[in-house]
Amino acid sequence: MKRIAEQFRLDGAVQSVATLGEGFINDTYIVTTERARYVLQRKNRNVFTDIPAMMRNIEGVTSFLREKVRRAGGDPRREVMTVIPTHDGALYYEDAAGDYWAATLFIEDSVTCQSASTPELARCGGEGIGRFQRMLADYGEPLADILPGFHDIRFRFRQWDDALARDAAGRRASVAREIEWIECRRDEMLRFWQRVETGEIPRRVTHNDTKINNILFDRQGRVLCVIDLDTVLRSPCFNDFGDAIRTYANHGREDDEHLDDVWLDMAMFRGFAEGYLSEARAFLTPAETDALAFSVRYITYEQVLRFLMDYLDGDTYYKIKSPDHNLVRTRAQYALLRSAEERYDAMRAIVAELAARP
Ligand SMILES: Nc1ncnc2c1ncn2[C@@H]1O[C@H](COP(=O)(O)OP(=O)(O)O)[C@@H](O)[C@H]1O
Ligand SMILES: [Mg+2]
Repeated sequence: MKRIAEQFRLDGAVQSVATLGEGFINDTYIVTTERARYVLQRKNRNVFTDIPAMMRNIEGVTSFLREKVRRAGGDPRREVMTVIPTHDGALYYEDAAGDYWAATLFIEDSVTCQSASTPELARCGGEGIGRFQRMLADYGEPLADILPGFHDIRFRFRQWDDALARDAAGRRASVAREIEWIECRRDEMLRFWQRVETGEIPRRVTHNDTKINNILFDRQGRVLCVIDLDTVLRSPCFNDFGDAIRTYANHGREDDEHLDDVWLDMAMFRGFAEGYLSEARAFLTPAETDALAFSVRYITYEQVLRFLMDYLDGDTYYKIKSPDHNLVRTRAQYALLRSAEERYDAMRAIVAELAARP
């Protein structure tokens, strides 16, 4: 580990390397030198197929943000992630095993939360994501599409139709009712995505992994910055909004067997929406604002489809703890979708109220 850390342009000799954080995707370490601390990550090669392109995306976005933070008189070492290059000036180091490593400055005096447990924390999460999108709303540089087809339901339906035709695990007949949940909403979901395909809803710089532990707070609990920029790409802003609500505002668990516990918590919805719109109303078009409430249904629907598709495929994508785990997830996510449908008008009213604030 020390030898890998020494490939990067660190200030001072490496004294120690220890594991850090509870990320699910990458292996994360903290490196201490005589003068500074750094984060060293082995990037997940199974999730990300083009890590060099991903690192160029991160470098482009963080350089742009750093300039804005500087101009606003902020602290560029704390209010934005700083990528540390290798001695040759590369953004990553490839080791003998073909694994990719990247280093960033450790952001000192920061705090992370593991779960968004209160509306106030949801509000902070919304503010972090909204600010990130706002500061990048005028980012003009190209971004590599490192996750092709992400949240594109037309692309998902192609996979879905293949999965149904294959019926790889022979389970199709047993889930006719669940398949109908997907089919009876196909047209409305395609119509929604069409607003992106026609350009009515623009693609902007989005984060795409809005978990609360990807937001750093200062010791006073104020949002410092958003980290974990591996999934940054150009996509509609509602992707971040819908996915955040899907996770933050689910009163139950993603694989809850007690379906009565699974519902959309409107206090959490309001919290996130309030934080998000406090930043995002400065740049969102009316069409984008109008799409926010439906995006909760859209993103939750996509997740029902993905769990059920993995069940049909014989559980090849999501890790399972029991043979019917993906079916349990499908039903729990569907309960959340039903709840979002019931609360759709209420969500629209809250968005309209918050978007109109001065
Ligand atoms: N630059 C940083 N400064 C401070 N803490 C960090 C930094 N980068 C990561 N961390 C901590 O490590 C955790 C995991 O890092 P992250 O980049 O989110 O990895 P993963 O992609 O696996 O989620 C974060 O939730 C945070 O607590
Ligand atoms: Mg993370």
